[in-house]
Amino acid sequence: SWTIASIVDDQIARIAAQIGQGRAICALSGGVDSAVAAALVQRAIGDRLTCVFVDHGLLRSGERGQVERDFVAATGVNLVTVDAADRFLDALAGVTDPEQKRKIIGREFIRVFEQAERDLKAEGDYRFLVQGTLYPDVVESGGGTGAANIKSHHNVGGLPDDLAFELVEPLRDLFKDEVRRVGLELGLPEMIVARQPFPGPGLGIRIIGEVTAERLATLRAADAIAREELTSAGLDNDIWQCPVVLLADVRSVGVQGDFRTYGHPVVLRPVSSEDAMTADWTRLPYDVLERISTRITNEVAEVNRVVLDVTSKPPGTIEWE
Ligand code: XMP
Repeated sequence: SWTIASIVDDQIARIAAQIGQGRAICALSGGVDSAVAAALVQRAIGDRLTCVFVDHGLLRSGERGQVERDFVAATGVNLVTVDAADRFLDALAGVTDPEQKRKIIGREFIRVFEQAERDLKAEGDYRFLVQGTLYPDVVESGGGTGAANIKSHHNVGGLPDDLAFELVEPLRDLFKDEVRRVGLELGLPEMIVARQPFPGPGLGIRIIGEVTAERLATLRAADAIAREELTSAGLDNDIWQCPVVLLADVRSVGVQGDFRTYGHPVVLRPVSSEDAMTADWTRLPYDVLERISTRITNEVAEVNRVVLDVTSKPPGTIEWE
């Protein structure tokens, strides 16, 4: 049977054989899959790999640092970060429709990545593109379950075919848990390897209403508190993920100290799932819910109410948009 160490050695040898003396580029999303794929390729070809991380301004608190500091420290990989927050915010101005948001974010992502790719190609011949495609991704895209029609998913796997690259997909035979073990074997930080799923369009689809810099700051603060409390309660392995959603166009009356407030609600959406195709809402302990609610309403000025989503999937999807 295959041990993780032998999978790692085997993949490194295959990648080295495929790429030879060529150069490869890899779009990092901050997620587990692209990080592990990049780390494997880095072991095989060293500094002939360059990673590109597009900061679209829709990231959660701390995510950019995890990539720029922790991932680079663990792997020594060449990293180019593209600061594209203003560009994405401009493109999203005035947009409230979920599908339109998804399409805009996907389109801008491709444009930014293609520009980064042209800049790199001016310096050397990057012929290979690394992607963190997993075995379930391969099966799903062939299977056609119809789920793809519900939301247009955006991720770094969704780059257009006409990019003139040869693909390197070292995770194609692996399931998520194996990818995590490969990541640990390669010395990646626990923070990255144990990361729960996060959608490519990021916080952009967790603000119900127009996406603005102020609203992003509010949601980022609330989300960071929820994640902190779930982690310190030791619940990270019990939940699949817990989106925090800002109902930016809804206000409700509250009271804080002696003052009337008129702020926004956030929704906690903790879910348990095997594969995200179906999900159940997670029965989080009341004391944890209370700590999250108290801290968010105390620490995030614009939020005066925390509500819990108790809908399964179906009929609800995991994300609200
Ligand atoms: P839904 O909302 O469809 O989400 O129940 C199922 C899972 O997919 C994640 N998700 C995405 N992941 N790009 C991604 O990479 C996307 O556009 C996207 N939309 C949703 C979601 O977080 C959940 O884990």
